[in-house]
Amino acid sequence: MTIARTSSPIPVAGRIQRFSYAIRNIVAEARRVEAQGTRVRYLNIGDPVAFGFKTPPHLVAAVERALREGHNGYGPSAGIADAREAVADELTSRGFPVSADRVFITGGTSEAIELALSALVDDEGEVLVPRPTYPLYTAVLAKLGARARYYRCDPARGWAPDLDEVRSLVTPATRALVVIDPNNPTGASYSTATRRSLLDITEQFGLVLLADEVYGDLAYDGPVPSIGSLDPDAAVISFSSLSKAYLAPGWRTGWMGIGRSRRLDDVVAAVAKLADGRLCSNVPMQFAIAEALRGDRSHQISFRAALRQRAAITAERLGAIPGVSCVAPTGGFYAMPQVTLPPGQTDEDYVLALLRATGVLCVYGSGFGMRPEDGYLRVVFLASPEDLNDIYSLVADFTRTYLGT
Ligand SMILES: Cc1ncc(COP(=O)(O)O)c(C=O)c1O
Repeated sequence: MTIARTSSPIPVAGRIQRFSYAIRNIVAEARRVEAQGTRVRYLNIGDPVAFGFKTPPHLVAAVERALREGHNGYGPSAGIADAREAVADELTSRGFPVSADRVFITGGTSEAIELALSALVDDEGEVLVPRPTYPLYTAVLAKLGARARYYRCDPARGWAPDLDEVRSLVTPATRALVVIDPNNPTGASYSTATRRSLLDITEQFGLVLLADEVYGDLAYDGPVPSIGSLDPDAAVISFSSLSKAYLAPGWRTGWMGIGRSRRLDDVVAAVAKLADGRLCSNVPMQFAIAEALRGDRSHQISFRAALRQRAAITAERLGAIPGVSCVAPTGGFYAMPQVTLPPGQTDEDYVLALLRATGVLCVYGSGFGMRPEDGYLRVVFLASPEDLNDIYSLVADFTRTYLGT
């Protein structure tokens, strides 16, 4: 018997329309440019391994050992005990006391963010996120049907958050305040006074501070304390992972540590419930966490030095282009220069034209919540100093033509 088939496409959920992650979206255009024979320089994804930085061998050995010793079954949904204890000790030693039973091992910081937001925010709930933001926050909130409310970070003040605006945005629907420090995409790290004020706002309005500390070891002057150290009784959840400071982003291994405030007890139970639903995160990689946090971290000294050098080249070379300004980063591997665009042009127009003309791929600032006409773009500066100098020469020549300067 033949059945009559319909040719109508299978519809997708409406939430897909709202889910946007510009960092990867733009790669489709880069592939087209590549297919036409232009070499593409990928300055869009913050993956140090792709630029030749090596995962520390003792971490690789720990994972290999775990695989060989047969740790290939499911693990506990909150993570293996040794990893949870290592994270608790690490956060506690950074001044933010967390007990192992309030640590969850996750599929990168990304899964920790998704679990925490899912546990905290109802439909119609609001979360304060920085503008510019790391776009996963807004994407997950859109997926949840919740609302991101942007607070401004000010390039004229080294991209520091506008604290008055943060306060003014709190409504009865606000559940959490996202703080990314050191920051992606701006490369800023915040002063102690700013961090304290953000904590005070959190406590004053009964919010949760979601502390994205994935670059905490990569401030150029050395590791920064966990923001929760300034008020260990505040409602703070800290996120981090092996992706950046331990050079293993492909392992998808991260964690969250939930502070000791009793106000967070129900959140711990809610995250545990959600974590049960996805069984566990990658088990063999969890064996690298204790090695990373308790073992040799000397690779970070050379990594920070390499980043400092690349940040200086980036700020100097981009800042020297007529019509371009760039705040010098103080941590991590990102910068967010601004191009003074001709009227009617958008950041995406500029980024696509740059890609097509030179093969240099950056991400437009509006992918991070900036206004398209403001002309921001994000640069990942993990390439070698020689490559960066070549790339910035291409950007300079292109921009002079584009702006007619
Ligand atoms: C601020 C920030 N948070 C979270 C993540 C996600 O990292 P992970 O690989 O740990 O999921 C990134 C990755 O670039 C990031 O920049």
